[in-house]
Amino acid sequence: MANTKLFRRLDLWGPLSNAVKAMPHPRAGGPTHLRVFSGGCATGREPYSIAMLLEHYCYRHDFTVTATDVDPDLIAQARTGVLTDGEVARALLREGILTRDMAERYLTRVDTATWQVKPRVLDRIDFTVADLNAPAGLIPDPCHLAFCANMWRHLNPDGRHALAAELGATMPDYGLLVIGPSDLYFGEDPNDPTGPLLHRPEFTVDMQERFRPHPRHPLMYRPRTDRERPAA
Ligand SMILES: C[S@@+](CC[C@H](N)C(=O)[O-])C[C@H]1O[C@@H](n2cnc3c(N)ncnc32)[C@H](O)[C@@H]1O
Repeated sequence: MANTKLFRRLDLWGPLSNAVKAMPHPRAGGPTHLRVFSGGCATGREPYSIAMLLEHYCYRHDFTVTATDVDPDLIAQARTGVLTDGEVARALLREGILTRDMAERYLTRVDTATWQVKPRVLDRIDFTVADLNAPAGLIPDPCHLAFCANMWRHLNPDGRHALAAELGATMPDYGLLVIGPSDLYFGEDPNDPTGPLLHRPEFTVDMQERFRPHPRHPLMYRPRTDRERPAA
């Protein structure tokens, strides 16, 4: 079982929904349709969470999510939309993100052990098996919101370089990239002697030159506006 959960990283979702709401309004020339990417999505808990959040809070924009993982078994499981009672209960207990109102709207209780993600959420997500070491053509273009969380360490150095370049090339200036806590460090320990991932040479050029930290959350990044974009 891949390490993932519904609404992982409790404090992210409020700042994220505010940052999405701050994207240009469709009536002011902004996108009517947000294209979202979830790379290394495992069993789909991350794209389910994103889709529920956007459906619930960010209704100015229509949206679709492209979700990929290299493991076909995980993608097959993700496509089912089946959740255990334990994981839904844990998400509900962590007050303020998955509320009971959201659970009623977006999930159906199947039996005492199981819930099902409703079609209004699941149908927004296109699940694909893909290796992000070769990301060309996998990311929607334009990509307004990308989650590449807790997966960079699984890529080889060339793959990290290629993925950062592809994200930089597909995101508008107001786009948002979300990474995971384990992407900041290779080890669990912040004092890991291998050092922060973002400071490793193969990562620095791509991530730090293409993206800058978002002021509202340490895991959110924005494309730099003062750089030349690589040709699409
Ligand atoms: C720790 S899980 C992260 C799941 C989710 N993003 C989250 O943060 O909850 C890492 C995922 O990356 C996937 N992965 C590993 N190598 C990959 C690759 N080359 N391309 C795409 N996905 C990959 C794994 O199969 C696994 O599902």
